[in-house]
Amino acid sequence: MTTIRTDGGDPAPSASRCPYQLTRLHGPLPDTGLDGLWERLRERHGAVAPVELEDGVRAWVLLGYHENLTVLRNQRLFSRDTRRWREVVEGRVDLATSRPTLSWRPNALYTDGATHTRLRAPIVDALSRVDLAATERVVRRIADDLVDAFVTRGRADLIAEFAAPLPVLVVNRLYGLPDSYGHMLGDLTSIVFEEDAKRGADAVSRIQQYFAGLVVRKRERPGEDLVSWMLAHPAGLSDHEVAHQAALINNASHQPTTHLIGNTMRTLLTNPRLRQAQADACVSVQDLLDHVMWTDMPFQLIAARFALQDVRIGDADVRAGDALLIGFAPAHRDPAVRPASEHGTSGVVSGNRAHLMFGAGPHACPARELARMITAVAVRTLNERLTGLHLAVPPEELRAVPSVFVRGLRELPVAFVPGEPLRRVEPEATEPRRGSQLPAPRPEPDAGRREPDLLDRLLSWWRGPRQRG
Ligand code: HEM
Repeated sequence: MTTIRTDGGDPAPSASRCPYQLTRLHGPLPDTGLDGLWERLRERHGAVAPVELEDGVRAWVLLGYHENLTVLRNQRLFSRDTRRWREVVEGRVDLATSRPTLSWRPNALYTDGATHTRLRAPIVDALSRVDLAATERVVRRIADDLVDAFVTRGRADLIAEFAAPLPVLVVNRLYGLPDSYGHMLGDLTSIVFEEDAKRGADAVSRIQQYFAGLVVRKRERPGEDLVSWMLAHPAGLSDHEVAHQAALINNASHQPTTHLIGNTMRTLLTNPRLRQAQADACVSVQDLLDHVMWTDMPFQLIAARFALQDVRIGDADVRAGDALLIGFAPAHRDPAVRPASEHGTSGVVSGNRAHLMFGAGPHACPARELARMITAVAVRTLNERLTGLHLAVPPEELRAVPSVFVRGLRELPVAFVPGEPLRRVEPEATEPRRGSQLPAPRPEPDAGRREPDLLDRLLSWWRGPRQRG
């Protein structure tokens, strides 16, 4: 058996801790989040803890910073392919119906080795062609439009009305599509993460249609956009493969960016000293983002790596086929690395980018600069546009997203001095709508000049219930 020690010491006898004491990571979750749990698990188990994800479905959570980093980097011992999970092989988990984080799709995220390299290359190369300066102006304009839709009201939910729609609208522009499609994709993507399994399955199949239709359109009429660049890439991906990599870009960007924006705003609105330091230009937005990624990260866990052989990690005997959940929240609280909570006068963890929030190793996020830029523009826009911004509820009433993976807020209700929109806003867009609460979509400029395709039909289907309701 391979032994992985990150501290150089001898493994403690595993009998000193009960290896069969599983902690349930399912059932009702507290509104206050799971931060206390990681410390209890560390006290009981050390760097690696056994957990139960569903009745009878087991996994390990990596709690140590170095253990997480080692597993993320080591492709030889740990696979990203969910089909290698013993719970799948032995039939206790069905990947076709499992939750999105523990499913399988034919995209770069769930593959290893040469297949991963081939699927990832077009994503990385396409993202590297994005003009960040020009995109920054687009992000600002989208952010201003979203603020325009609620600024006169003096109140808003910054998650539903701002942080959730912004990333999907930006990425949709990078696909070369107007905002109407982005609003639809945003609605569908948020349904996938809701509790309702039937609505979720329907949304997943509509999203697949969306990307299949997008690829057909870009094959016929290529442009300067992510999908056209992936189609033209020398890796020679099929249309089906490009559709899946485009869907991955959407899914991978949406939740973490939303909750990095939300958690950064929560941090500013609940920490007056930090907010003052930011207003006085003592802390840059980029340093603020790193601080939040250490202390209030948008994902507490991600799924997962699968051991390719028996291996001892810390005090845990991990068997081939076991799942190892990557633990960002526990890793960032690991006493072995945790930056002191108080730094200088601002209390900010400043200038330290050694957090794991963008991953590490072969699957590390290929869009960290883009993600940082979108979040920084979002935070600046809210601070500049919303005078007297403050929480509309006491901080202890903010509710965590009920998930063991996402670490964010269900809502972020705020109040501010009502202001003026920068541009004229359609009347119906100034009040929150049921569902997504996005501003009303605008018509696509060239839609009347060609035959409706799959994307157009999907858009008509999506607009139908909104026009009736
Ligand atoms: C704050 C925002 C973001 C965070 C914290 C974040 C974090 C991550 C992390 C931790 C991974 C690695 C997952 C793993 O190892 O299993 C990842 C992968 C990925 N991210 Fe991001 N991400 C963010 C935004 C974005 C954006 C904006 C995009 C694209 C526009 C993007 C595209 C991707 C893709 C395509 C992968 C898969 C890479 C692969 O498997 O090779 N991410 N991201």
